[in-house]
Amino acid sequence: MSRLEEAAAKACCADLYQSELARLILGDTRHPGGLRLTHRLGRLMGLRRDDWVVDLASGNGASASAISRAFHCRVVGIEYGRAAALEAREKARAAPIPSRAGFIQGDAEQPPLRAGRFDAVFAECSLSLFPDKARAVGEAVRLLRPGGKLGLSDVTVAPGCLPPELDGSLGRLLCLADALDVNGYTGLLEEAGLEDLYREDASNEVLGLLEELQAKLGAFTAWQSFQNVNDAGATTSPRFNGMDWSVLLHQVKELVTAGRLGYWLYVAQKTAEPGRD
Ligand SMILES: C[S@@+](CC[C@H](N)C(=O)[O-])C[C@H]1O[C@@H](n2cnc3c(N)ncnc32)[C@H](O)[C@@H]1O
Repeated sequence: MSRLEEAAAKACCADLYQSELARLILGDTRHPGGLRLTHRLGRLMGLRRDDWVVDLASGNGASASAISRAFHCRVVGIEYGRAAALEAREKARAAPIPSRAGFIQGDAEQPPLRAGRFDAVFAECSLSLFPDKARAVGEAVRLLRPGGKLGLSDVTVAPGCLPPELDGSLGRLLCLADALDVNGYTGLLEEAGLEDLYREDASNEVLGLLEELQAKLGAFTAWQSFQNVNDAGATTSPRFNGMDWSVLLHQVKELVTAGRLGYWLYVAQKTAEPGRD
């Protein structure tokens, strides 16, 4: 992919995630396990009061604000989508319980932040989307101080298992087509020189998310059938890019059950200076 194509893909992805459709279907957090899994990642990273933390691809800011409140730390969220970054800022400003989370619009593959200043960097359900994953991990490592932690939670996909309809642009937008397998992320972290790697399987959270989505689609179909009450037989399952969502969800569920698609947490550390951490 050329740099121009990469920029177009990022913009397209940001547009989808900051759309009303994504809000309706996914709600505030756009990853399996919601804030429960975000807090788990924060605990695994050992976040402490007053830590400086970066959230790469922070969406509408729900995780960054939650991390800031739960661990009393300062979080900078970087998000490609301008509208999403603005929404995150506005939500943080208007929240009844204040947080120390701030947001900037930018590319997580080239974060406009100073090197070696951060105690932790995390990325939820986003590395799988980045065209140049090694570069993104390299940049995360650049931001960390020695001994700082990198936390990831992301979709894992075994090579060659996606059906054709999920292996193209639709699958890419859904964090599937460019996702790595379980060991692929481990390799990336090791190649970036990170140490003390810990990983945890959270794939059951995908099944939970799929059930939630199925219920929302059921409600949508019921609403549609109510709207079309005088137009017998006109009700169809909602479609995305011509695909029936319920078929897509079923395909993904089968892959999760077969252990070919999952969601994992990873935490690793930048080499500490002798005598610290
Ligand atoms: C699946 S959502 C996850 C959002 C958030 N991390 C969460 O878990 O709720 C992926 C997000 O990554 C953002 N994104 C994709 N590529 C990006 C990039 N290169 N830099 C910053 N954000 C990016 C998208 O705009 C979208 O908000």
